[in-house]
Amino acid sequence: MKNYYIFFGPPGSGKGTQAKKVAEKLTLPIISTGEILRQEIEMKSEIGLKAQKLMSQGKYVQDEVVGNLIIKRLRKKDAVNGAIFDGYPRTEFQQNFLVNKLKKFNTLGIFVAVKDAEVKRRLGGRRACVCGQTYHLKFKPAKKNGICDVCGGKLFTRPDDKPESIKTRLEVYHSLTEPLLKYWEENGRMIKVDGEQKIDKVYNDILAKLKKKN
Ligand code: AP5
Ligand code: MG
Repeated sequence: MKNYYIFFGPPGSGKGTQAKKVAEKLTLPIISTGEILRQEIEMKSEIGLKAQKLMSQGKYVQDEVVGNLIIKRLRKKDAVNGAIFDGYPRTEFQQNFLVNKLKKFNTLGIFVAVKDAEVKRRLGGRRACVCGQTYHLKFKPAKKNGICDVCGGKLFTRPDDKPESIKTRLEVYHSLTEPLLKYWEENGRMIKVDGEQKIDKVYNDILAKLKKKN
Protein backbone atom coordinates (compact mmCIF):
# COMPACT_ATOMS: atom_id res chain seq x y z
CA MET A 1 0.00 0.00 0.00
CA LYS A 2 1.28 3.44 -0.87
CA ASN A 3 1.75 5.89 2.01
CA TYR A 4 1.53 9.65 1.67
CA TYR A 5 2.43 12.06 4.47
CA ILE A 6 1.37 15.66 4.12
CA PHE A 7 3.17 18.36 6.13
CA PHE A 8 1.19 21.39 7.22
CA GLY A 9 2.34 24.44 9.13
CA PRO A 10 2.87 28.17 8.72
CA PRO A 11 5.83 29.52 6.79
CA GLY A 12 8.95 29.01 8.86
CA SER A 13 7.38 26.37 11.11
CA GLY A 14 10.11 23.94 10.14
CA LYS A 15 8.01 21.72 7.91
CA GLY A 16 10.76 21.60 5.27
CA THR A 17 13.37 20.74 7.92
CA GLN A 18 11.20 17.98 9.39
CA ALA A 19 9.94 16.69 6.03
CA LYS A 20 13.55 16.06 4.97
CA LYS A 21 14.31 14.06 8.13
CA VAL A 22 11.12 11.99 7.88
CA ALA A 23 11.68 11.38 4.16
CA GLU A 24 15.13 9.96 4.90
CA LYS A 25 13.83 7.80 7.73
CA LEU A 26 10.97 6.34 5.67
CA THR A 27 12.93 6.32 2.38
CA LEU A 28 10.22 8.22 0.59
CA PRO A 29 10.80 11.12 -1.82
CA ILE A 30 9.96 14.61 -0.72
CA ILE A 31 7.69 16.72 -2.86
CA SER A 32 8.11 20.37 -1.95
CA THR A 33 6.25 22.73 -4.26
CA GLY A 34 8.29 25.65 -2.89
CA GLU A 35 11.55 23.87 -3.82
CA ILE A 36 10.23 22.85 -7.26
CA LEU A 37 9.15 26.45 -7.95
CA ARG A 38 12.53 27.82 -6.82
CA GLN A 39 14.22 25.38 -9.22
CA GLU A 40 11.96 26.65 -12.04
CA ILE A 41 13.03 30.22 -11.18
CA GLU A 42 16.68 29.16 -11.17
CA MET A 43 16.23 27.59 -14.63
CA LYS A 44 14.44 30.76 -15.81
CA SER A 45 11.65 28.57 -17.23
CA GLU A 46 8.29 30.02 -18.27
CA ILE A 47 6.71 28.74 -15.03
CA GLY A 48 9.59 30.17 -13.00
CA LEU A 49 9.33 33.59 -14.59
CA LYS A 50 5.58 33.69 -13.90
CA ALA A 51 5.93 32.48 -10.30
CA GLN A 52 8.87 34.66 -9.28
CA LYS A 53 7.00 37.90 -8.58
CA LEU A 54 4.15 36.21 -6.69
CA MET A 55 6.59 34.23 -4.54
CA SER A 56 8.81 37.15 -3.64
CA GLN A 57 5.68 39.07 -2.55
CA GLY A 58 4.61 36.11 -0.41
CA LYS A 59 1.50 35.33 -2.48
CA TYR A 60 0.45 31.89 -3.71
CA VAL A 61 1.15 30.68 -7.24
CA GLN A 62 -1.96 29.69 -9.26
CA ASP A 63 -3.56 26.33 -8.34
CA GLU A 64 -3.38 25.09 -11.93
CA VAL A 65 0.35 25.79 -12.27
CA VAL A 66 1.19 24.03 -9.00
CA GLY A 67 -1.21 21.15 -9.81
CA ASN A 68 0.62 20.44 -13.07
CA LEU A 69 3.95 20.35 -11.23
CA ILE A 70 2.51 17.86 -8.73
CA ILE A 71 1.14 15.55 -11.44
CA LYS A 72 4.52 15.54 -13.18
CA ARG A 73 6.40 14.88 -9.93
CA LEU A 74 4.12 12.04 -8.79
CA ARG A 75 4.80 10.20 -12.06
CA LYS A 76 8.52 9.85 -11.28
CA LYS A 77 9.71 6.35 -10.44
CA ASP A 78 10.89 7.21 -6.92
CA ALA A 79 7.28 7.97 -5.88
CA VAL A 80 6.14 4.40 -6.53
CA ASN A 81 5.68 3.60 -2.81
CA GLY A 82 4.34 6.99 -1.77
CA ALA A 83 5.76 10.41 -0.94
CA ILE A 84 6.06 13.20 1.59
CA PHE A 85 4.43 16.50 0.69
CA ASP A 86 5.87 19.77 1.98
CA GLY A 87 3.81 22.84 1.12
CA TYR A 88 1.03 21.17 -0.86
CA PRO A 89 -1.97 21.47 -0.60
CA ARG A 90 -2.41 25.12 0.40
CA THR A 91 -5.88 25.95 -0.93
CA GLU A 92 -9.24 24.20 -0.87
CA PHE A 93 -8.94 23.52 -4.59
CA GLN A 94 -5.51 21.91 -4.13
CA GLN A 95 -6.75 19.83 -1.19
CA ASN A 96 -9.75 18.49 -3.13
CA PHE A 97 -7.47 17.68 -6.03
CA LEU A 98 -4.96 15.80 -3.87
CA VAL A 99 -7.49 13.94 -1.73
CA ASN A 100 -9.21 12.74 -4.89
CA LYS A 101 -5.94 11.71 -6.49
CA LEU A 102 -4.82 9.72 -3.43
CA LYS A 103 -8.20 8.32 -2.40
CA LYS A 104 -7.11 4.68 -2.78
CA PHE A 105 -4.01 5.08 -0.61
CA ASN A 106 -3.03 5.78 3.00
CA THR A 107 -2.77 9.49 3.74
CA LEU A 108 -1.81 11.26 6.96
CA GLY A 109 -1.45 14.96 7.72
CA ILE A 110 1.41 16.15 9.97
CA PHE A 111 0.82 19.58 11.45
CA VAL A 112 3.83 21.45 12.81
CA ALA A 113 2.32 24.12 15.06
CA VAL A 114 4.27 27.37 15.51
CA LYS A 115 2.98 30.83 16.46
CA ASP A 116 3.46 33.90 14.26
CA ALA A 117 5.98 35.56 16.62
CA GLU A 118 8.32 32.55 16.39
CA VAL A 119 7.91 32.43 12.59
CA LYS A 120 9.17 36.01 12.34
CA ARG A 121 12.11 35.23 14.59
CA ARG A 122 13.10 32.19 12.54
CA LEU A 123 12.74 33.51 9.02
CA GLY A 124 14.97 36.51 9.68
CA GLY A 125 17.91 34.17 10.37
CA ARG A 126 17.26 31.56 7.72
CA ARG A 127 19.83 30.87 5.00
CA ALA A 128 19.11 28.57 2.06
CA CYS A 129 21.05 26.70 -0.61
CA VAL A 130 19.94 25.95 -4.18
CA CYS A 131 20.27 22.22 -3.38
CA GLY A 132 17.30 22.56 -0.98
CA GLN A 133 19.20 22.49 2.34
CA THR A 134 18.12 25.05 4.91
CA TYR A 135 20.12 26.59 7.75
CA HIS A 136 19.61 29.13 10.50
CA LEU A 137 22.30 31.53 11.71
CA LYS A 138 21.57 30.64 15.34
CA PHE A 139 19.43 27.47 15.48
CA LYS A 140 21.06 25.43 12.69
CA PRO A 141 24.29 27.06 11.56
CA ALA A 142 26.28 25.71 8.61
CA LYS A 143 29.66 24.21 9.59
CA LYS A 144 31.44 26.81 7.46
CA ASN A 145 29.81 30.24 7.52
CA GLY A 146 27.84 30.93 4.31
CA ILE A 147 28.64 27.55 2.70
CA CYS A 148 26.29 24.56 2.37
CA ASP A 149 27.44 21.51 4.40
CA VAL A 150 26.05 19.14 1.79
CA CYS A 151 27.00 20.53 -1.63
CA GLY A 152 29.44 23.38 -0.87
CA GLY A 153 27.10 25.91 -2.53
CA LYS A 154 26.93 29.55 -1.44
CA LEU A 155 24.08 30.20 1.03
CA PHE A 156 21.61 33.01 0.38
CA THR A 157 18.63 34.75 2.01
CA ARG A 158 15.35 33.86 0.29
CA PRO A 159 13.73 36.90 -1.40
CA ASP A 160 10.46 36.11 0.40
CA ASP A 161 12.16 36.32 3.82
CA LYS A 162 11.93 40.12 3.97
CA PRO A 163 9.53 41.49 6.64
CA GLU A 164 6.77 42.69 4.21
CA SER A 165 6.66 39.30 2.47
CA ILE A 166 6.67 37.40 5.75
CA LYS A 167 3.63 39.43 6.83
CA THR A 168 1.78 38.58 3.60
CA ARG A 169 2.77 34.89 3.82
CA LEU A 170 1.33 34.64 7.32
CA GLU A 171 -1.91 36.38 6.28
CA VAL A 172 -2.32 34.14 3.23
CA TYR A 173 -1.54 31.04 5.33
CA HIS A 174 -4.12 31.88 8.00
CA SER A 175 -6.87 32.68 5.51
CA LEU A 176 -6.35 29.99 2.85
CA THR A 177 -4.33 27.09 4.32
CA GLU A 178 -5.11 26.87 8.03
CA PRO A 179 -8.80 26.02 7.34
CA LEU A 180 -7.66 22.88 5.46
CA LEU A 181 -6.57 21.24 8.72
CA LYS A 182 -10.19 20.68 9.74
CA TYR A 183 -10.60 17.93 7.13
CA TRP A 184 -7.63 15.90 8.43
CA GLU A 185 -8.55 16.43 12.05
CA GLU A 186 -12.19 15.43 11.59
CA ASN A 187 -11.20 12.30 9.70
CA GLY A 188 -8.74 11.25 12.42
CA ARG A 189 -5.92 11.45 9.91
CA MET A 190 -3.74 14.11 11.46
CA ILE A 191 -0.97 14.25 13.99
CA LYS A 192 -0.06 17.55 15.59
CA VAL A 193 3.31 18.40 17.07
CA ASP A 194 4.59 21.41 18.98
CA GLY A 195 7.01 22.96 16.46
CA GLU A 196 8.44 25.44 18.98
CA GLN A 197 10.81 22.88 20.46
CA LYS A 198 14.35 22.01 19.36
CA ILE A 199 14.59 20.46 15.87
CA ASP A 200 15.44 16.96 17.17
CA LYS A 201 12.68 17.03 19.78
CA VAL A 202 10.10 17.95 17.13
CA TYR A 203 11.42 15.10 14.97
CA ASN A 204 11.23 12.56 17.82
CA ASP A 205 7.67 13.64 18.62
CA ILE A 206 6.70 13.12 14.98
CA LEU A 207 8.23 9.62 14.93
CA ALA A 208 6.53 8.67 18.23
CA LYS A 209 3.13 9.86 16.99
CA LEU A 210 3.59 8.12 13.63
CA LYS A 211 4.31 4.87 15.46
CA LYS A 212 1.09 5.18 17.44
CA LYS A 213 -0.93 5.76 14.25
CA ASN A 214 0.41 2.65 12.52
P1 AP5 B 1 7.65 27.31 0.63
O1 AP5 B 1 9.02 27.19 0.17
O2 AP5 B 1 6.88 26.09 0.93
O3 AP5 B 1 7.63 28.31 1.87
P2 AP5 B 1 6.76 28.42 3.21
O4 AP5 B 1 5.51 27.65 3.29
O5 AP5 B 1 6.64 29.88 3.41
O6 AP5 B 1 7.60 27.73 4.26
P3 AP5 B 1 9.12 27.90 4.45
O7 AP5 B 1 9.87 27.07 3.49
O8 AP5 B 1 9.46 29.36 4.52
O9 AP5 B 1 9.28 27.35 5.95
P4 AP5 B 1 9.34 25.87 6.49
O10 AP5 B 1 8.11 25.60 7.26
O11 AP5 B 1 9.72 24.92 5.41
O12 AP5 B 1 10.50 26.03 7.54
P5 AP5 B 1 12.06 25.65 7.44
O13 AP5 B 1 12.22 24.19 7.66
O14 AP5 B 1 12.69 26.27 6.26
O15 AP5 B 1 6.83 28.15 -0.43
C1 AP5 B 1 7.36 29.37 -0.90
C2 AP5 B 1 6.38 30.04 -1.82
O16 AP5 B 1 6.16 29.21 -2.98
C3 AP5 B 1 4.97 30.31 -1.27
O17 AP5 B 1 4.91 31.47 -0.50
C4 AP5 B 1 4.18 30.41 -2.57
O18 AP5 B 1 4.41 31.64 -3.20
C5 AP5 B 1 4.81 29.31 -3.43
N1 AP5 B 1 4.15 28.01 -3.24
C6 AP5 B 1 4.70 26.89 -2.70
N2 AP5 B 1 3.80 25.90 -2.66
C7 AP5 B 1 2.66 26.40 -3.17
C8 AP5 B 1 1.36 25.86 -3.36
N3 AP5 B 1 1.06 24.61 -3.01
N4 AP5 B 1 0.42 26.67 -3.92
C9 AP5 B 1 0.69 27.94 -4.27
N5 AP5 B 1 1.89 28.52 -4.12
C10 AP5 B 1 2.87 27.74 -3.56
O19 AP5 B 1 12.56 26.40 8.77
C11 AP5 B 1 12.58 27.83 8.83
C12 AP5 B 1 13.85 28.33 9.55
O20 AP5 B 1 13.78 27.94 10.93
C13 AP5 B 1 15.16 27.68 9.02
O21 AP5 B 1 16.19 28.63 9.13
C14 AP5 B 1 15.39 26.48 9.96
O22 AP5 B 1 16.76 26.14 10.05
C15 AP5 B 1 14.83 27.02 11.27
N6 AP5 B 1 14.18 25.98 12.10
C16 AP5 B 1 13.47 24.89 11.69
N7 AP5 B 1 12.99 24.20 12.75
C17 AP5 B 1 13.42 24.89 13.87
C18 AP5 B 1 13.23 24.67 15.27
N8 AP5 B 1 12.53 23.63 15.73
N9 AP5 B 1 13.79 25.57 16.12
C19 AP5 B 1 14.50 26.64 15.65
N10 AP5 B 1 14.71 26.88 14.33
C20 AP5 B 1 14.16 26.01 13.45
MG1 MG C 1 10.14 25.06 3.36
